[in-house]
Amino acid sequence: MSIKPGAIHFASIDEVEFASLRILLDEIFGVTNRVGTLVWKNATDNNPTNIAIEHEYVLCYARNKQKIAKEWKSANLSVKDKLLSVGQGFVEKFKDQEEMQAAYSKWFREYKNQLWPFEDYKFIDKGGVYTGMRAVHNPGKEGYRYDVLHPETGKPCTQPMMGYRFPPETMDQLLADKRILFGPDEKKLIELKVYAKDYRAKLSSLFELDGRVGTNEIKELFPESKRAFDFPKPTGLIEELISFVTTSDDLILDSFAGSGTTGQATLTLNRADRQQRRFILIEMKPSIATDLTAERVRRAAQGYANAKGEKIEGLGGGFRYCELGEPLFDEQGKIRDSVNFGELARHVYFTETGEPLPRERVPNTPFLGACRGVGIYLLYNGILGDKSANGGNVLTRAILAKLPPYDGQKVIYCAGCLLGRDRLRVEGIVVRQTPYEIKVS
Ligand SMILES: C[S@@+](CC[C@H](N)C(=O)[O-])C[C@H]1O[C@@H](n2cnc3c(N)ncnc32)[C@H](O)[C@@H]1O
Repeated sequence: MSIKPGAIHFASIDEVEFASLRILLDEIFGVTNRVGTLVWKNATDNNPTNIAIEHEYVLCYARNKQKIAKEWKSANLSVKDKLLSVGQGFVEKFKDQEEMQAAYSKWFREYKNQLWPFEDYKFIDKGGVYTGMRAVHNPGKEGYRYDVLHPETGKPCTQPMMGYRFPPETMDQLLADKRILFGPDEKKLIELKVYAKDYRAKLSSLFELDGRVGTNEIKELFPESKRAFDFPKPTGLIEELISFVTTSDDLILDSFAGSGTTGQATLTLNRADRQQRRFILIEMKPSIATDLTAERVRRAAQGYANAKGEKIEGLGGGFRYCELGEPLFDEQGKIRDSVNFGELARHVYFTETGEPLPRERVPNTPFLGACRGVGIYLLYNGILGDKSANGGNVLTRAILAKLPPYDGQKVIYCAGCLLGRDRLRVEGIVVRQTPYEIKVS
């Protein structure tokens, strides 16, 4: 797998190991590729014996610092910028309700395509956009209808023509957060408050996060389990990091996956900005990998029931679960003696097609299966019954006659080939030599 020159590496570490890790990473990446260190305030140490240890660190390195984007911007910044200026503009500029409605409608028509991906209210509400229009999260349909009482007069406020953009529970939260701006009385449509802090253009070097958030997120996903994992990272921290340095279909690798926070953060971000970032999570302990890492990402993607039994909608997306086997090749690139036909067959099939051989398919003939109209064959380990050295692993006329037929293009992996080019063309065969043409990624 090639790593992009602009690739970024984040390593999270506590105070104890911070100094050693920094020396190690300086050595690996080079000091000139150190981008910086982020600090996040974890749990409060309420009872410090001397100095309270409350911070953790995220060391950031680039493979090549010259190749990374000059200025990191939040994934949603371009749209956020517009929302901010427009949101503020509406609040400040238009005192008259009708004028405001007309200006908003004009603006909305102009920018709706950019707003569309942000159908999740959590992201659009930060825009401070005036709330009096159709439900953006539900295009083409009416917004929500319910009463919001004016705090002074106690009467229901004038509802937007197309209903409120938010479901009542979101409105309750916005009211509790004091993000709803009321007019002098109930006749004025309500507005949403804009916080400038929602629009950070730069990746902050200091995050204030309560470390317990991570634990609570796991509890929410695994109500049946008392203590599923110690010290999972808060999803918000990882979201923040990857939102600044990735986009489109970038690949995110977390080789110490633990509870799978990185997977959930990636899915959350993809849903927010409609990108297709991919992730690889690696977890060493089988029990954690199956019961927690994979299960968490599955629940986050597909939805789950929380402790109250409420159905929580999934973020969408998915993943494939793979297990690492023994290495197939030795230091010289030769296939190890211990590798059996089935193991090599699965590897060959995957490298040729990009797809795993279906688990239930036990490879016990040279024909491994067909993918997108191409039949994949492997001659190895005397699969045709000849156990002599290289026996049956070389493609000859006799061996070809013994192969299970496939009516279409064929790719045959073998130790050698004694068939002429014309014969191969007529038979629709592409020959690949084991092991040299087996891709090792
Ligand atoms: C500190 S936890 C990661 C926490 C994670 N960021 C989260 O939010 O849950 C480190 C995890 O890496 C796993 N691990 C340790 N060494 C590993 C290795 N060499 N390869 C893969 N996983 C490893 C451990 O089993 C543990 O689950």
